[in-house]
Amino acid sequence: MALWGGRFEGETDALVWAFNQSLPFDRRLWRQDIRGSIAHARMLARQGIVAPDEGEALVAGLKALSSDLESGAASLPDDAEDIHSAVEGLLRSRIGPVAGKLHTARSRNDQVATDVRLWLKDENTRLREDLARLRALLVNLAEANFDVLLPGRTHHQHAQPIRLAHHLLAYFWMFSRDDGRLADAHRRADALPLGAGALAGTPFPIDREFVREQLGFAALCENSLDAVADRDFAVEFCAAGSLLMLHLSRLAEEIVLWNTPEFGFVELDDAVTTGSSIMPQKKNPDVAELIRGKTGRVYGDLITLLTLMKGLVLAYNKDMQEDKEPLFDTADTVSACVRLMTRLLAGARFRPEKTGAALHGDFSTATDLADALAAAEVPFREAHEIVGRLVRECLENGRILEDLSLEDLRQHDGRFPATALHAITPRASADARRSRGGTGAEAVREQIRRARAALEPAPP
Ligand code: ARG
Repeated sequence: MALWGGRFEGETDALVWAFNQSLPFDRRLWRQDIRGSIAHARMLARQGIVAPDEGEALVAGLKALSSDLESGAASLPDDAEDIHSAVEGLLRSRIGPVAGKLHTARSRNDQVATDVRLWLKDENTRLREDLARLRALLVNLAEANFDVLLPGRTHHQHAQPIRLAHHLLAYFWMFSRDDGRLADAHRRADALPLGAGALAGTPFPIDREFVREQLGFAALCENSLDAVADRDFAVEFCAAGSLLMLHLSRLAEEIVLWNTPEFGFVELDDAVTTGSSIMPQKKNPDVAELIRGKTGRVYGDLITLLTLMKGLVLAYNKDMQEDKEPLFDTADTVSACVRLMTRLLAGARFRPEKTGAALHGDFSTATDLADALAAAEVPFREAHEIVGRLVRECLENGRILEDLSLEDLRQHDGRFPATALHAITPRASADARRSRGGTGAEAVREQIRRARAALEPAPP
């Protein structure tokens, strides 16, 4: 049954009814809808807008409905227009016509905005808890693999040796900024729309402050039009989710690459890999591939929301009913991906013998030779040129830097200091990078300390 029969003589066309209906997807808001209604009903009674016994009947009826829905003793109908009419209809079937008083001083427009904000705040909090577990795991892995070295890359080419810990911590900081963006989005979503009415406020002497407190919002929406018309809180969540997916996707791609036989840097747990129906040897990193793949749909959700909202005049338009599926999809997808990435990494075994072998003879310490010359006061540009020629000669003669003697070096340039040879090993190269935020042992230890501090809950 619709909530708006009076004005109409004719029946709604069946196709239109189905087209208009949001219950198939907004039913998951039932808890928030009932919570919001309980707070509203309490407020109506406190303010004398409904009689005390009416207020009690509404609150008791809503509470009983809530526990019956929770236990499965009651269920939502399939034929209501949306979750708001479904809940009101169930309440009416239990407590009779007094249920009709619940909607005094309220509209579905401020109701739906309230429900979605309540739902999103909880989702956001849960997602940040999951993300904190992933971030903590990255720090633990950094510590557990502290001395593992691998070729750091630029242009996908071997560039300089780095610590695996350093590489993993790079993702820690990306995810930490994602956490900050989610926290920020949460802060702005934390304002109560209820009390805005359909768009202009209400003539009833409502107490929005009381409802705010009951529902645990930090603030009130200050403008009734804005309260019912904007969905920027949903856009912000999807934008933060998109960036988070971008970071997950890059990490997923590295795992896929590192898991190939050519790299072999990481071995994945059987529990998170899958086989092929035809090729018996296969052990595929499907989870990482799916995380990478699902990034596209989350971007799609963001673009859907941005496009949905861009041409709408104030205030509510039915277009906005389309906000829910992309928002729900982003919340579900991002949360699953964060959990699955955590599972994937928790069972990953890094293989130092492979990462170490990749550094052998790869010329990734050439910069260190140039640095050794520069430290002996050769202008760096000149040092670069000298070492460049040295590398070319090695390549032509099938030699590697590690094979060179001090005499070999000095044949190229007499200014090579005796210490230059020590600088050539990957470990010396990595540990020489002591600058704050660098890959040297001391710098990474310091980074781990800072990462651990960033994981501490902020003081109240
Ligand atoms: N199902 C609607 C939505 O999700 C609820 C608000 C309906 N308001 C209205 N005036 N038709 O947006």
